[in-house]
Amino acid sequence: MEIHVCPDLEALSHKATAIFVDISRKCIVLKGRFAVAVSGGSTPRRLYTLLSSNRYREKVDWRSINFFWVDERCIPKGHKDSNFRLVFETLLSKLPIPDDNIHRIKGEEEPEKGAKQYEDDLREFFGKNALPVFDLIILGVGEDGHTASLFPGSRSLEETNKLAVPVYLERPKRHRVTLTLPIINNSTHILFLVAGPSKAGIVHEILEEGDKRERYPAGLVSPVRGTITWLIDKEAAKRLENVNIYIT
Ligand code: 6PG
Repeated sequence: MEIHVCPDLEALSHKATAIFVDISRKCIVLKGRFAVAVSGGSTPRRLYTLLSSNRYREKVDWRSINFFWVDERCIPKGHKDSNFRLVFETLLSKLPIPDDNIHRIKGEEEPEKGAKQYEDDLREFFGKNALPVFDLIILGVGEDGHTASLFPGSRSLEETNKLAVPVYLERPKRHRVTLTLPIINNSTHILFLVAGPSKAGIVHEILEEGDKRERYPAGLVSPVRGTITWLIDKEAAKRLENVNIYIT
């Protein structure tokens, strides 16, 4: 595991962009394609905007990239809270990405059906029998330790067969669809992006309190053979004391 503490969200986003560019280039050279699963939330917005900016857009072979989502709210794709909409507006709409390479979770469907359709899409792309291997998964962490739409205490954390499941959240009352832990932990690279003072407590508990770590879905993310990198801004890292930190 690597932990990088960046001065602020801007520096964190540039670092994340450089990692995305680097991994996608290597992957496309090696395999001819790159499969990434992206998150919603406020933290990765700047990363998506930077990737489509003049500074970075020419560095990536967009036609060879396949976009998936780690989770989605069960709402129409044009809704302001849609994770598809976030990534589409900030990134996908500005780049030459073939429609077939955009694998959104259909939030407008009934949750069970949306999860099933997404699972079918994943199996179609990665192959029917093997557990999919994403080249990169970008994740965030909530103050309660959730990641993707995997929330503390949820039965979805016990899922061992399905790739995507529906989740119902009481507060706010909303259905969601999320990737499950086995597929997340099977990816080659995992990149956590965490910023802001409200995350300082949970970052400390997950990264420094070994016995508490597994209480939190984000603490259960541990790739079976891949690498995991945490990019944390100074405010979210302010309670870290012991970990081997790379200040960047
Ligand atoms: C979402 C996410 C979710 C998010 C965390 C952190 O759709 O909201 O996938 O897991 O990554 O809640 O969100 P912030 O980046 O806004 O802190």
